[in-house]
Amino acid sequence: MTWKPNSWRNYPVVQMPTYPDESKVNSVEAKLSFKPPLVFAGEVQALKKSLALAEKGNAFILQGGDCAESFSQFSANGIRDTFKVLLQMAVILTYGSSIPIIKIGRIAGQFAKPRSSDVEIIDGIELPSYRGDMINDMEFNKTARQPDPQRLIDGYEQSAATLNLIRAFAQGGMANLEKVHEWTLGFLNDTPETDKYREIANRISESLNFMKACGLTSSSVPQLRETDFFTSHEALLLNYEEALTREDTITAEKGWYATSAHLLWVGDRTRQFDHGHIEYLSGIQNPVGIKCGPSLEKDDLIRLLDKVNPNNESGKVVLICRMGSEKVNEHLPKLIKNIKVNGKNVTWCCDPMHGNTIKASNGYKTRRVAEILNEVNNFFLVHKSEGTLPGGVHFEMTGSNVTECLGGANEVKESDLGSRYHTHCDPRLNGSQSLELAFLVSDLIKSFRNGKGS
Ligand code: TRP
Ligand code: MN
Repeated sequence: MTWKPNSWRNYPVVQMPTYPDESKVNSVEAKLSFKPPLVFAGEVQALKKSLALAEKGNAFILQGGDCAESFSQFSANGIRDTFKVLLQMAVILTYGSSIPIIKIGRIAGQFAKPRSSDVEIIDGIELPSYRGDMINDMEFNKTARQPDPQRLIDGYEQSAATLNLIRAFAQGGMANLEKVHEWTLGFLNDTPETDKYREIANRISESLNFMKACGLTSSSVPQLRETDFFTSHEALLLNYEEALTREDTITAEKGWYATSAHLLWVGDRTRQFDHGHIEYLSGIQNPVGIKCGPSLEKDDLIRLLDKVNPNNESGKVVLICRMGSEKVNEHLPKLIKNIKVNGKNVTWCCDPMHGNTIKASNGYKTRRVAEILNEVNNFFLVHKSEGTLPGGVHFEMTGSNVTECLGGANEVKESDLGSRYHTHCDPRLNGSQSLELAFLVSDLIKSFRNGKGS
């Protein structure tokens, strides 16, 4: 059977909303199928080439952004702040690792969430669970929780506007290396007990000054003021993805492309190899992320790879491991060993967020920065002992000064969680927690590459 953007409809799917009015869904899908693509096939191919480098240890992935983007918190300043922090992290990582950092946002399309329960009960009232702004509204009342297909169009439009701004930022001056580094110096001045980070920052300053003395400045060298920034989200709403899947006729590598983002990933809850989500992802040319949780069996992973990447193409698959800070030691080695035996080409990426979610004593869903770092550290150690390569990190973060995760140099305590807890889903690192982690991960990559382990 030949693959088509709609082949997934012949398979079982889970985690997709049920709409009250099917005809309205059909008309929205038809509208979306005439909308311009958000990304271009050539960019997708460029990302794939970079990912092939990461697979061999010659580049490293930094993927980050909101757990769920939201309609109500959509603002130019919000996008700018997250973009800024991601670039600051990228500079720190580039310096520490001495290899290119592939910058991928969880942005411009990250609106749909799988949920553990279809319904939510508060004070005896049962309503459909909130599934992300592209499906329904977070507010707890009947109309708000009703899935509305118009939200697919609204999500597309917000994605287009977001991507437009990101493209302007990436090429129009906001990615200027000197500027980005100045913001980091500003952060260090405002944060106590950051001497060890300051030392790295000073060395970056020295390198920039050295280049300047040699005549290499952001005005003379475009590479110093511009960057490539890619987008990604979980491919959950297959009818949305289908409508934006287009056949490329311009680039040399023909075929079907998801044009809603450069990279799509499949979640831990929808990655059944004989279901619709994997069927959809198996037919597109885009690189694909597969979330690997502790329940993933090693042989199921091989089946998944056979389906998603039958030609074992390099740069095609990123395995985004989200095991938990201790479980990673037990589960990751099994997966790695089996991948080696089967000779599969994959890039290993660490998501230290999703396996470390806890409930604070005051009821907030949160994560400890220390546990997040611990998982990354263990991820590196496992790769060291298996002789494989840590290829990237995946964070839920924001540039805003939220109080959702515990710890950090500007310590967020349990009693602070309530003051700026704004997430629409999981707790995110704030700007300063994100930068701290970048400094620490940068050290890990450096030691790993120098053969010192971590
Ligand atoms: N163009 C290079 C890159 O993208 C260097 C660079 C310019 C950069 N601006 C940046 C790196 C901002 C990180 C962040 O890697
Ligand atoms: Mn999440």
